[in-house]
Amino acid sequence: MEEELRTGKNDTVNDTDDDDPPVLSSRALAALKEFLEEQSQSLANHESLETGGGGGGTGAESDVALVTEDWRLSQFWYDPETARTVAQEVLSLCSDSNYKVACIACPTLYAYLKKIDPNISVQLLEYDERFEQYGSDFTFYDYNQPEDVPLELKHTYQVVVADPPYLSKECLEKVAQTISFLARPQQSYLLLLTGEVQRGRAAELLGLHPCNFQPRHSTKLGNEFRLFTNYDPGERLGGWELEK
Ligand SMILES: C[S@@+](CC[C@H](N)C(=O)[O-])C[C@H]1O[C@@H](n2cnc3c(N)ncnc32)[C@H](O)[C@@H]1O
Repeated sequence: MEEELRTGKNDTVNDTDDDDPPVLSSRALAALKEFLEEQSQSLANHESLETGGGGGGTGAESDVALVTEDWRLSQFWYDPETARTVAQEVLSLCSDSNYKVACIACPTLYAYLKKIDPNISVQLLEYDERFEQYGSDFTFYDYNQPEDVPLELKHTYQVVVADPPYLSKECLEKVAQTISFLARPQQSYLLLLTGEVQRGRAAELLGLHPCNFQPRHSTKLGNEFRLFTNYDPGERLGGWELEK
């Protein structure tokens, strides 16, 4: 069973007689209040991205437009600072204009990359067909069919970034297969954004290590998130975390 990314909420409803209106416990009411506040904060964040206000951005990517999160698809978008930091990191890895970048299941990163550098070559592999709006930069991708992607994408990308939808072993194993399919053998920078719980598997499957920089989301998640890389980022991303 896949472990989903979870929002940090507990929702409980008191058992009542069928005729009675449902009554929320004080704990559930507090959780609901927190949820509604987070929803309104999330909407405000999206709105400010879309209208160019707030967000603490530099202005270069201030009107990045994102579709609404669909939690049934485990969609939790990065907060603007995270999206900007990861996008800047990817851009710093692209030493010439021939570099090609693949974004697996991280549409926010795609949007920020294109906003900061419209000329960058980025392919978004995603399950949500709303991202067909990106035209030929979009490739439909279901992690359950890890190599069911067009053959011309094989071993094409110098930078591959992935953010799998689930925290299960199976999901990471399959996404790792896709990463290896897309990456140029021995010559690619790999970045994986996922839960701390995947640390051991990320090392085992792809030789990745966690950076000190911690990704955050516009909606607060209950899981600790990490950014893993297969290269030493030096001073960037807070450096590689020393082994625990
Ligand atoms: C945890 S989110 C990562 C999004 C990232 N934080 C961002 O802001 O761009 C996981 C992504 O996996 C996608 N997804 C959901 N089901 C999928 C599937 N079966 N195969 C591949 N991707 C899927 C979702 O649409 C979502 O974009």
